[in-house]
Amino acid sequence: TGAFTYDPGFTSTASCESEITYIDGDEGVLLHRGYPIEQLAEQGDFLEVCYLLLYGELPTRTQKEDFDLRVTRHTMVHEQLGWFFRGFRRDAHPMAVMCGVVGALSAFYHDSTDISDPQQRMIASIRLIAKMPTIAAMAYKYHVGQPFVYPKNELNFAANFLHMCFAVPCEDYKVNPILARAMERIFILHADHEQNASTSTVRLAGSSGANPFACIAAGIACLWGPAHGGANEAALNMLGEIGSVDRIPEFIARAKDKNDPFRLMGFGHRVYKNYDPRAKIMQKTTHEVLGELGIKDDPLLDVAMELEKIALTDPYFIEKKLYPNIDFYSGITLKALGFPTTMFTVLFAVARTVGWIAQWKEMIEDPSQKIGRPRQLYTGHTQRDYTPIAKR
Ligand code: CMC
Repeated sequence: TGAFTYDPGFTSTASCESEITYIDGDEGVLLHRGYPIEQLAEQGDFLEVCYLLLYGELPTRTQKEDFDLRVTRHTMVHEQLGWFFRGFRRDAHPMAVMCGVVGALSAFYHDSTDISDPQQRMIASIRLIAKMPTIAAMAYKYHVGQPFVYPKNELNFAANFLHMCFAVPCEDYKVNPILARAMERIFILHADHEQNASTSTVRLAGSSGANPFACIAAGIACLWGPAHGGANEAALNMLGEIGSVDRIPEFIARAKDKNDPFRLMGFGHRVYKNYDPRAKIMQKTTHEVLGELGIKDDPLLDVAMELEKIALTDPYFIEKKLYPNIDFYSGITLKALGFPTTMFTVLFAVARTVGWIAQWKEMIEDPSQKIGRPRQLYTGHTQRDYTPIAKR
């Protein structure tokens, strides 16, 4: 019928009203609750940004101390969850493990099924923000075969995460503050990005009144794809596949070839048709981390820097407005921090959890909220009669 607007990929459909995040893709602007991402990433800390996304305002000092305390009180996971991890194969992709374990939280927190209670909604939000780094670090430790490390609550969010990932019981581990700050920046830059695919998934799942932990698991599943959060992993794998600077022209030619499905991972964005403001900050952070770790002659990095140069000057990329995106730089930084590529999207999920839950909360609290139920343009058969199998 002609009753519905056909909009594949929802490129021109607003699915909701939201006060959380503003993007101007043509100008390369990203604001959270009105604050530019550059200022938040340079001057704020991750939990401050979480507070801002959830409550709409930056916290006062007392509010911030109270919020930090509320989050750190929930960083531990139920001891039984460790056994849940052990049900997975060690070589399982950590994103598969995340989908399962975060979904399983819905079985641990039955109180969260009462989403009509604002207090329960806030407790679920805080539990998710607090437990995601612990679960992500456990996924990493399980993957590499090391014992789980409990949270260290005197450290800040990012430093605690690095501690849970890289501390081992038999050795002293001290978090490098420059690397912790880089981790914090990665978390801030990925915290929210309005109605992207995974956030829309969380909203759609939540619109039926489902348990919030299960909704976040749905968001994790969506984020996993290489066109979305999986792009940081895919970008680094691609750099490895290219291998050396002299092979770049071959891959650039493939990216331009209409008959070749190959795309340069880490380039292009649905909304940004200008330099992604997050990519600019990430680029600076990448160089800070490489400088701190003294990484100079990394062939992957040489390929990355050369690709960046080409993409910013080649007419194909200029005409199609394909700039390096945040995943291009975050992949390189995370590799330098010591994470295996399979963990990259997991770290994105840790950061995006606050965006997901803030958007979920906003939706539940919106009086005009309805179950999400898109329509379709039916292109199948018109009505026809059943033929018994003997006659087919
Ligand atoms: N390499 C080569 N050509 C590309 C690329 C690329 N990375 N991205 C888009 N194009 C071309 C595409 O072939 C198309 O050409 P034509 O107009 O001749 O058919 C044109 O640019 C427009 O592409 P599109 O697929 O219509 O654009 P989209 O808005 O649907 O896709 C995208 C956006 C991010 C999925 C896409 O640019 C892409 O696949 N990039 C690589 C994956 C990636 O880095 N994703 C991370 C996105 S940022 C983080 C996040 O949101 O999670």
